[in-house]
Amino acid sequence: AGVVAAATVVAACSSDDTTPGGSDPTGSESRPLPIPPVLKPATSGTTKVFRLEAKPGTSEIVAGKSTPTWGYNGSILGPTIRVRRGDDIRVKVGNALPEMTTVHWHGMHLPANMDGGPHQPIMPGDTWTAEYTIKQQAATLWYHPHPHGTTSRHAYRGLSGLLIVDDDQSDQLDLPNRYGIDDIPLIVQEKRFTSDHMLDETDREDVGLIGDTAVVNGISGPTFTATTRRVRFRILDGSTMRLFNLAFSDRRDFTIIGSDGGLLDRPVTATSVYLSPGERAEIVVDLEPEEKVTLKAVRFADNLEVDDDDSPDFGLKDEFDLLSIVGPPAEAAVPPVLPTGLNPTLRAPARPAATAKKRTFDMEWFQINNRLMDITRVDDTVDVDTDEIWTIANKDNWIHNFHVHDTQFRVLSLDKTSTTPLIDGWKDTILLAPGAVATIALRFTDYTSNRWPYMYHCHLMFHEDQGMMGQFVVVKPGQKPSPAIGSGLEH
Ligand code: C2O
Ligand code: CU
Repeated sequence: AGVVAAATVVAACSSDDTTPGGSDPTGSESRPLPIPPVLKPATSGTTKVFRLEAKPGTSEIVAGKSTPTWGYNGSILGPTIRVRRGDDIRVKVGNALPEMTTVHWHGMHLPANMDGGPHQPIMPGDTWTAEYTIKQQAATLWYHPHPHGTTSRHAYRGLSGLLIVDDDQSDQLDLPNRYGIDDIPLIVQEKRFTSDHMLDETDREDVGLIGDTAVVNGISGPTFTATTRRVRFRILDGSTMRLFNLAFSDRRDFTIIGSDGGLLDRPVTATSVYLSPGERAEIVVDLEPEEKVTLKAVRFADNLEVDDDDSPDFGLKDEFDLLSIVGPPAEAAVPPVLPTGLNPTLRAPARPAATAKKRTFDMEWFQINNRLMDITRVDDTVDVDTDEIWTIANKDNWIHNFHVHDTQFRVLSLDKTSTTPLIDGWKDTILLAPGAVATIALRFTDYTSNRWPYMYHCHLMFHEDQGMMGQFVVVKPGQKPSPAIGSGLEH
């Protein structure tokens, strides 16, 4: 049942995919890469107050064609929210959409009732306020909708934005950090269009809203013209269902500096990096003056299946262009040597206490531990400030990943999945190849009440929407989740 007609779907990927900018049927030039603006906060006392509004609009995803989309404060995607460790923030989120949505802060340590998951619905016309203190290290996080059953459609229509955390430690490092100049966000997604340029919202069997047209920061086939010789890209796989293997057209070396939850221990040289939905990578690449190079991706087969676990291409097919890059002017300064150490919190290996609580999660056929998501059921009760070791097994013959709210974890082991330097860093989402088993070390440090759950789930959004998700409540040792959970949650 997991098999779809992969051949036909792949064949349906138009030749536009391989040269998105150049083959534009309108004949216009490749458009400059849009950079989401940084959202300016107001202040209230010492609190930074941000405003987001989810609303419908019209976007030119493909040059010359207008497509109805949804965005935060604009017609597609959302502004970048930039905060510092220690900040008290308040985000007021208005809903000008015709249906209920939520906004989840992916990767953030925060109280469960501020998480923006399925339990914090925002009805049309309403405003929801999230308020929390930034308690974590510098990282590239993101925000997106999380209404149960419709997350995929809301994200596919355009609702997603970046949330960048800065801190004093990372400020000391000689890394590109001028947003929009040498520190560039790349939100990589996919769309599929109907013949009249609407987003095609036909769910494909077992894979849902999987696209065939690559989109970066909301447009297809953009060009980034560098002004510096060294550029940092903060890359988010914001697609609903697609895994990408990213590389440059000349297979040049680049440096991976960060994973989901912050900087790596030290820079790692690579020629490609895998990302699955929800994951982030920060990379640094050096450019020669006026050169032309393309950031490309290879994507997984449309059915997400891997024919042969040992195959080096891991089921990857269909190479295509994401972003054309033009090098800086000749007078651009030669960059310094990269710092050798980036993140002291990763220097020691993860060593969970011998008393760590162990749990297992079997992922199979849209279920976790043989259960579909039930918003009124608490699946796990976790003690605050206590080490946990979770073993996650992908029992299917296609890929899944596993995302945990409220924390960043360390990976203790992972098999069968092509290893990537990202798993040595702080992670909130981990990719599991068919048959793979991962063990991760976690700790939850945010206790607010025993009433509100957090989620863990597959971040392949069609799977998540089908119910491949569970709920856990963080309690004080000895405490039970409040029986009030489940009431007042059925909005
Ligand atoms: Cu990115 Cu539960 O979400
Ligand atoms: Cu999945």
